[in-house]
Amino acid sequence: MNRLISLVSLFLGVLLLSCESPRKVEISSPSSSIEVKLSLSGGVPYYRVFYKDKMLIGKSKLGLQFKNLDNLDSEMVAVSCDTIHHREKWSPVWGQSSSIDNNYNEMVWTLRNETRMEMKVHFRVFDDGVAFRYVVPRNDMMDSILVSKELTQFSVKGNPESWSIPANYDSYEMLYNHKRLSKVKDANTPITMKREDGVYLSIHEASLTNYAGMTLVNERGNNVLGANLVPWPDGIKVRVDSDLISPWRTIQIAPKAGDLITSSLILNLNEPSKVKDTSWIKPMKYVGVWWGMHIGTEVWTEGGRHGATTENSKRYIDFAHEHGFTGFLPEGWNKGWDKWGQSGAFDQITPAKDFNIEEVVKYGKEKGVGFIGHHETGGDIVTYEKYMDKAFKMLHDLGAVGVKTGYAGGIYPRGQHHHGQFMVNHYRRVVETAAKYHLMVDAHEPIKATGIARTWPNMMTREGVRGQEWNAWSDGNPPSHYATIPFTRMLGGPIDYTPGIFDLLIKNTKDKRVSWNCDDLSKTRVHTTLAKQLALYVVIFSPWQMVADLPENMEGNPALQFIEEVPTTWDQTLVPIAQIGEEVVIARRSGENWFIGGLTNEKARDSKLTLNFLEGNKKYRATIFRDAADTDFDKTPEKIAIETRVVSTHDVLNVHMVQGGGYAISFMPIN
Ligand code: NOJ
Ligand code: CA
Repeated sequence: MNRLISLVSLFLGVLLLSCESPRKVEISSPSSSIEVKLSLSGGVPYYRVFYKDKMLIGKSKLGLQFKNLDNLDSEMVAVSCDTIHHREKWSPVWGQSSSIDNNYNEMVWTLRNETRMEMKVHFRVFDDGVAFRYVVPRNDMMDSILVSKELTQFSVKGNPESWSIPANYDSYEMLYNHKRLSKVKDANTPITMKREDGVYLSIHEASLTNYAGMTLVNERGNNVLGANLVPWPDGIKVRVDSDLISPWRTIQIAPKAGDLITSSLILNLNEPSKVKDTSWIKPMKYVGVWWGMHIGTEVWTEGGRHGATTENSKRYIDFAHEHGFTGFLPEGWNKGWDKWGQSGAFDQITPAKDFNIEEVVKYGKEKGVGFIGHHETGGDIVTYEKYMDKAFKMLHDLGAVGVKTGYAGGIYPRGQHHHGQFMVNHYRRVVETAAKYHLMVDAHEPIKATGIARTWPNMMTREGVRGQEWNAWSDGNPPSHYATIPFTRMLGGPIDYTPGIFDLLIKNTKDKRVSWNCDDLSKTRVHTTLAKQLALYVVIFSPWQMVADLPENMEGNPALQFIEEVPTTWDQTLVPIAQIGEEVVIARRSGENWFIGGLTNEKARDSKLTLNFLEGNKKYRATIFRDAADTDFDKTPEKIAIETRVVSTHDVLNVHMVQGGGYAISFMPIN
């Protein structure tokens, strides 16, 4: 603690205060709009959260129970409390904004039980929310710390509207439920809520490190959300042989839904970058041998319908080169796909017999298109960890720029879950090993995003959402999904949604499709218009964005211009229109250029866009990609209208969106 304070004060000019009575302590945010009150009653520690004097989180328990130690949930006494005022500005390697303020007041509340076991609860209070974490120092009397239950509660006041997916130990690939909180039995985080007074809350976690993922259970349906950690096979939730440091439990608080999106609270709670030279970390748009397998025109396995052949890869690289996309991912490049599901199936070292990896990497390099390796594991961590270092070194030696990982299937060793501590540690080892070999990472079937990209900026993007692939072989993702995920999943961090499908009804290839995962392929389609696919490049933040359709479906379509021009990292982000599950409009600036993405759910609407974010004394050429007069969600979703106009900050644009539609606009200063 003392060391921490002196470091912080040394570098940040921090004040150190102590609180009046450690039994009842209060701490407020820099502007005093948010306040946290801590208390001990009957030896049990509790907290409450207030926003502008309204209680948002009522009396909620803190504490931990252990398998091998005295529980820290009763007969506790407060020993001390210390306050730190932290003010900082930092610049991410990539992000929604090029400069981030990290301002909070922190309280470290030290508690002890009868046997003198100590627990420190750190509370950080920002102007956009609250976070707390537990630190339990290991002493010489313990050889390890085995957590059997985390007692954290979030006692949400009132009965807000909420958006969440059910708690699940292995997947986040679900549609969001919009319900009163009392009707929610359990949830994965982030869970986002809107109170009757219009205030928004979102509960999640930050810096999930060497700990189990947290799900929430609505205890007795009375809106007391209790932490339920994902277990090990033996029921233990977390095991450490060092000090126990929990992730931050976070409560984002916002007067407007859009403020949740522009908040940097989750990132701020992570450590600064551990990667010193970040020159090799590059945002990009990438193409890939991918959609063909999902719609069933190609396969991952070797043989006649194999997608990732040398020749086909070169075709994708040529397409990327022509349009300025700088990454290429060939799924099915390696051996093992025919054994998917068996232990030891995937071979991350040996290329398929019709895929010459050296030749493909070299061909891409010559054309400015970086190679993204693909490591599908099928969930078999035992085998993957054996070869991981070698496989990463091989990619590095070949000159690859990154790797996409995949964990589709139950985890082996059996009994482990995707979201438990064992896997949290595995996913982190992947990011660290990748950093060692200067490789960027895109994880599918990942652990949830908790802002670790601040510390490991090569952790570019991840899935952890019901992404585009579901449109290829299931009922798909309804229009409202796209208006919901920016306010829920995206609060954790970048999403590899894989936008950019042009053949929305999947009709160009209908004669070549073979089903592998679906009863009736004829019913599958992408549930957006083309203009809405373009909007996703702005609405969904990801420093890597796929351009997902088959080259032959995109080539020659003037809508490609928007994807060519749109950046994937930003200097500034604004959210002019935000109604969760209904519509969202996001404006992002890169240098002097602005880009807007707007989209609606199942309802047609008009966006009235005030362009007051444009610089006052400039004229801009606006290129507008919107639903056309003859765009029909069911019959002609691919129809798009493209027009250019000269605009300035004084203008207002009216843009019509059809059902399931959207729009994308670029604004470039003239001279
Ligand atoms: C699921 C991933 O989300 C998808 O992108 C990938 O193509 C398949 N698994 C195969 O690895
Ligand atoms: Ca997936």
